[in-house]
Amino acid sequence: MRLTTFGVGYVGLVTSTGLAEIGHQVLCLDVDADKIARLERGEIPIYEPGLGDLVKRNERSGRLHFSTQLVSPYDDSDLYFIAVGTPPNPDGSADLRAVFSACETLAASAKKPSLVVVKSTVPVGTCDLVQARLDELAPGRFEVVSNPEFLKEGSALEDFFKPDRIVIGARSDKAKATMRALYKPLQLLGERLVITDPLSSELVKYASNTMLAMRVSFMNELSRLCHVTGANIHAVRAGVGSDSRIGRKFLYAGPGYGGSCFPKDVQALAALGRAKGVQLRLAEATHAANGEQANFLAMLVSDAIGDLRGKRVALWGLAFKPETDDVRDAPSLKLAQALLDAGAEVVGHDPEGAQNFIKALGHPRASVVDSEYAALKGAHALILLTEWRCYRAPEFADIRALLVGERPVAVDARNIWSPAEVEAAGLHYVGIGVPSNGAGRS
Ligand SMILES: NC(=O)c1ccc[n+]([C@@H]2O[C@H](COP(=O)([O-])OP(=O)(O)OC[C@H]3O[C@@H](n4cnc5c(N)ncnc54)[C@H](O)[C@@H]3O)[C@@H](O)[C@H]2O)c1
Repeated sequence: MRLTTFGVGYVGLVTSTGLAEIGHQVLCLDVDADKIARLERGEIPIYEPGLGDLVKRNERSGRLHFSTQLVSPYDDSDLYFIAVGTPPNPDGSADLRAVFSACETLAASAKKPSLVVVKSTVPVGTCDLVQARLDELAPGRFEVVSNPEFLKEGSALEDFFKPDRIVIGARSDKAKATMRALYKPLQLLGERLVITDPLSSELVKYASNTMLAMRVSFMNELSRLCHVTGANIHAVRAGVGSDSRIGRKFLYAGPGYGGSCFPKDVQALAALGRAKGVQLRLAEATHAANGEQANFLAMLVSDAIGDLRGKRVALWGLAFKPETDDVRDAPSLKLAQALLDAGAEVVGHDPEGAQNFIKALGHPRASVVDSEYAALKGAHALILLTEWRCYRAPEFADIRALLVGERPVAVDARNIWSPAEVEAAGLHYVGIGVPSNGAGRS
């Protein structure tokens, strides 16, 4: 098939590359001329494991192309994917301007009747609005299908090639059959399609992310309760997660969720509820609890090292999760801002996200370094924020030697270190909902 993707971000580039890899001809179209120029030069604008090699291979094979315009022969594509950003408006609702702008381009340039597949995360009812707009601009030419994306940054290619499920919201049998055929090569071991109407499909995406965010926020709230009662969040997680109805995944307390999806999708679902007169209290509370966790973390740091003025604090892990360079809404940004506001100097390290962090923060007292140990020199505290593999088994004696003060603090915001090991090196261990003399993660 001949395919075009509008929006070449994390979703658009991974999806387009994956579709080219299974044999389709794909045009990646983005309004960001600089991004397209970089891709044409062979540079990959984001970090996603394995993506660079796959992009190059498919470009060489002539199946993957980049452009800022809907150029021939892609103006008669069989399918157009919309994978543009849907960032939050100030009230939390989704900003859909890029989605509708892509539709305008499409209606003005596409030559033949085709499917328009909305992969961007959009509020319930958006596909119908997109259909109405396209019908206005080019009557009878397009059918709009909802196909929300569930990839996880850091394992996006694996998620593309081995999806847990593929959700499709379509109205006509023809559209359903086309989508089924498109995804057949990814389901050789058995179909994992959920085919429904566009409204339900759109809601599946928000419901999934909010459910996951809710689990994280609940554990984060419990970690705060552990902090004041002396209970240990590791034991609580093990006990709760052993119930097969609950399961063990997504029960880790930490610095709060971040990234480009959970924060905005939880807020967008809450905003949609408000707009429709249905108060989604759990979505609202999940968002509020996440904000409180950032404050809790800042409090743990200031409790440990007191007045922050003039003190240097080292941050390990700036991306919102391992194996990505994405710092959008990352806990590192919230914490760094709180530390800077309190007068501290912040030195960060991240294997991939350091430059994005510095660009997003833009503060004269914040800097990044290339080696994790270099960040520690002269710092009063180390805070581990993202559990990249390189931080999992550090030399605590070396950390102790580089940090300053009588008993410098190591704040383990992912609860991955052994408190006993950290303390044995002469550091003061602080975890999230873990007593400093308590057991480590099991
Ligand atoms: N990043 C994720 O992990 C993820 C996962 C699932 C779903 N999503 C959803 O997918 C969508 C895209 O997310 P992303 O992280 O890839 O975003 P992104 O910000 O990385 O990329 C979006 C791209 O769209 C481009 N764009 C904007 N307007 C355009 C237009 N009119 N025509 C062509 N291109 C245009 C931008 O220049 C940008 O390059 C969002 O709705 C997001 O919620 C993201």
